[in-house]
Amino acid sequence: MASTQGTSDWITERTSMSLDTGADRHLWEGGRRYHAYREGRYSLPNDEIEQQREELMHILVMDILDQELFLAPMAEPPLKVMDLATGIGLWAIESKQSLPINLNSSKAMLTAMALVGDRYPDANILGIDLSPIQPTSVPPNVTFQVDDVEDTWVHDNDYDFIHMREASGYMRSTPTVIESVIAHLKTGGWLELQEFHWVAEKEDGTVDPNIPVNRYMDHMMSAAATSEGRKIPIVPEIGDIMKKAGFVDIKKTIYRVPYGTWPTDPVARRRGAVLSVNAELLLPTSDKVLGYIGVTPEQAEALYSDCVKMFHDSSIHCYATYYVWYGRKPEEATDNLGGTDR
Ligand SMILES: C[S@@+](CC[C@H](N)C(=O)[O-])C[C@H]1O[C@@H](n2cnc3c(N)ncnc32)[C@H](O)[C@@H]1O
Repeated sequence: MASTQGTSDWITERTSMSLDTGADRHLWEGGRRYHAYREGRYSLPNDEIEQQREELMHILVMDILDQELFLAPMAEPPLKVMDLATGIGLWAIESKQSLPINLNSSKAMLTAMALVGDRYPDANILGIDLSPIQPTSVPPNVTFQVDDVEDTWVHDNDYDFIHMREASGYMRSTPTVIESVIAHLKTGGWLELQEFHWVAEKEDGTVDPNIPVNRYMDHMMSAAATSEGRKIPIVPEIGDIMKKAGFVDIKKTIYRVPYGTWPTDPVARRRGAVLSVNAELLLPTSDKVLGYIGVTPEQAEALYSDCVKMFHDSSIHCYATYYVWYGRKPEEATDNLGGTDR
């Protein structure tokens, strides 16, 4: 990955990269827009519909985490921060600006946002992504760069905090990315990975393979293995990968989020509704990937339709799981893996 110095010239930097790499261009296929830099590396589109889905996901995740941007227990406010696979950059911007994107009158939300701004006024935040889809008007200490986080990194090696959300499932090798992270954190620095695990679990924690979402996931796993030799889902294994890379004080926190609005609890219903809308937007982006294992667009469409019916069927009680993993780069290697379920 290219090195970034300074914080204010991200447009210049992106443009100069585009002369050779196409970083500022996009590709169109089947009516959807995709990244052109490192064409084909990431299977989802980067167009307006996908950006709205990402924004919706950000709102959902902030709701799940009670408006916290991360859970890593840093003793000092981080000064040098990297957001890998930043997407439209909401996490990176919000960690500086503390602007709620969905400013409603919730007092709790406003209070939490104000705290974030107070807490990290001096941080420099670098967001990296394959797509040039970040806003052009950002605070001077937020920088965006079009790059592939799976390339060799030539960044500084004194980051306080490196964060990645909703992206490990798309990496060819999450272990390699995590090794790059630990090499570029300062001693005592933290890594946090946040990720949905889409396999639907029943209330008793068991997995019914015949549930539509699990049939879909099964196809996606085969497609990732067939097309790129990638194993997904990888989310539950991230702690082991972090441990192998040398992280300590590793902790997992998981949140169960219902598929659909079957719970009676209003908070769970709200989250379930947003998750389902998000999944409905996500499903049709899978045609290309499912095509790798011979699933026709018609078969894919039937599968998506079964999933959507499932979200609306309040007799099916299932959850997706949101994982938050964090760990610290130690002075010397030790053995420590903890966990919390919420
Ligand atoms: C589902 S979006 C998540 C965006 C953001 N992290 C968030 O939580 O809002 C995944 C992002 O990962 C980016 N991505 C995937 N593979 C990447 C890679 N190898 N290098 C850089 N970005 C990558 C995609 O371009 C996309 O913007």
